[in-house]
Amino acid sequence: MATKIKSVFFCQSCGYESSKWMGQCPGCREWNTFVEEAAKPKTQQVKGLPTGSRNSGTYVPPKTLSEIVMNEEERYDTHIGELNRVLGGGLVKGSLILVGGDPGIGKSTILLQVAGNLSADTRSVLYISGEESLQQIKLRANRLGTFKDSLKFMCETNLSDIEDAITGMKPEVVVIDSIQTMYNENVSSAPGSVSQVRESTSVLLRIAKSMNISIFIVGHVTKEGQVAGPRVLEHMVDTVLYFEGDRHASYRVLRAVKNRFGSTNEIGVFEMQDKGLVEVTNPSEYMLEGRPENASGSVVTCSIEGTRPILIEVQALVCRTNFGFPRRQANGTDFNRVNLLAAVLEKRVGLQMGEYDAYVNLAGGMRIAEPSLDLGICLALISSFKNKPIADDVCAFGEVGLSGEVRSVSLGEARAMEAKKLGFKTLIVPKALEKKIRTSVSDLEIIGVSSVADAMKIL
Ligand code: TYD
Ligand code: MG
Repeated sequence: MATKIKSVFFCQSCGYESSKWMGQCPGCREWNTFVEEAAKPKTQQVKGLPTGSRNSGTYVPPKTLSEIVMNEEERYDTHIGELNRVLGGGLVKGSLILVGGDPGIGKSTILLQVAGNLSADTRSVLYISGEESLQQIKLRANRLGTFKDSLKFMCETNLSDIEDAITGMKPEVVVIDSIQTMYNENVSSAPGSVSQVRESTSVLLRIAKSMNISIFIVGHVTKEGQVAGPRVLEHMVDTVLYFEGDRHASYRVLRAVKNRFGSTNEIGVFEMQDKGLVEVTNPSEYMLEGRPENASGSVVTCSIEGTRPILIEVQALVCRTNFGFPRRQANGTDFNRVNLLAAVLEKRVGLQMGEYDAYVNLAGGMRIAEPSLDLGICLALISSFKNKPIADDVCAFGEVGLSGEVRSVSLGEARAMEAKKLGFKTLIVPKALEKKIRTSVSDLEIIGVSSVADAMKIL
């Protein structure tokens, strides 16, 4: 009997593997993401295993912690402060970093800038593009500045050729733009498929670890379609960075979602200008730019991103509903949270929210789901409901519970300092934090509130 070529189905979004086609992926709940790929012969599956594992033939006995010799981890300075921060203090030698994001968000731009900066430190860098021609890269590079000769460019998609090039040149840093265009001849699936993307990454992982080269991998986030998203390789790499932001707005946020060499939840803020991405060192100022004066439904609140406080304007619009069912909308924050807070206002403060539509927006296009925004959202809703503006120099933060109580949040002092730095005069904070903030931050009027009803009285 002739043996049938086996095939498997992969979810292109999260890499879920299944023996049959499914409409909805049980892993990530996306629809229509399954694509058939030829199954790998069993013998190939050990490829890309790190050295020291079962098949390598070198047995290393288990060690105690004190026997493990540490060598100081070496970090390269990328000369982009925001990126260094997200990476945990610089680019670690021999690490594999995935940079994900929507097409056109600026991944190639920032990596070209990083490559340029590293080459200015006379580090050898190899930039491999599978998407753009050398002329296109040169055009972009001309806009970004001048580059040293220790940076070399190459247009290639075949991984064996790339491996040869890396072995020949022995660079310290490599950029692969993008992983979805690379292919490994040993895998029969098309470039961009889950098998190809995984296999290519494991080859790059082996190169990074065996030759101690730092490798940046670009991965496009795809909503649907035939290419695998970067999520399928998150588990293989050391660091995962995602570029977020509205393509129409000029600011971009770089977020670490996984980092073996530093903290996650750190963010870096950039602005896309005509000379590439420029760091925004004071995001609060940037986020509050163009704030309306004396408008009802607007209040400034403070959120913590990583270790950094960011002031942000919460806007709310409450207006009478024309239908029996009030409409709610949340832009930049959690929709269910807005619903919940509207219910709290109805029950605990006596606001007839059931008869009103409510729209909440975080100005500047930021996306934040931190509970410390609750008090700000409540005050914005109340202010719009009563059509009563809140003074421009007021900043409020705190978590709101279901009984309408205002609860403490972390890093109260840091938030207060940030508000003071930007010229705010009055802080509305949870009662539990009042004393602590008052002793550590001077020249600010601190109002401690224990419930939303308390906070409403101040308005
Ligand atoms: P790009 O970095 O190619 O995005 P990605 O690699 O993530 O797909 O380009 C980002 C966008 O930024 C592109 O539409 C053009 C724009 N851009 C600028 O506004 N200024 C610049 O200096 C550069 C290089 C690009
Ligand atoms: Mg690109």
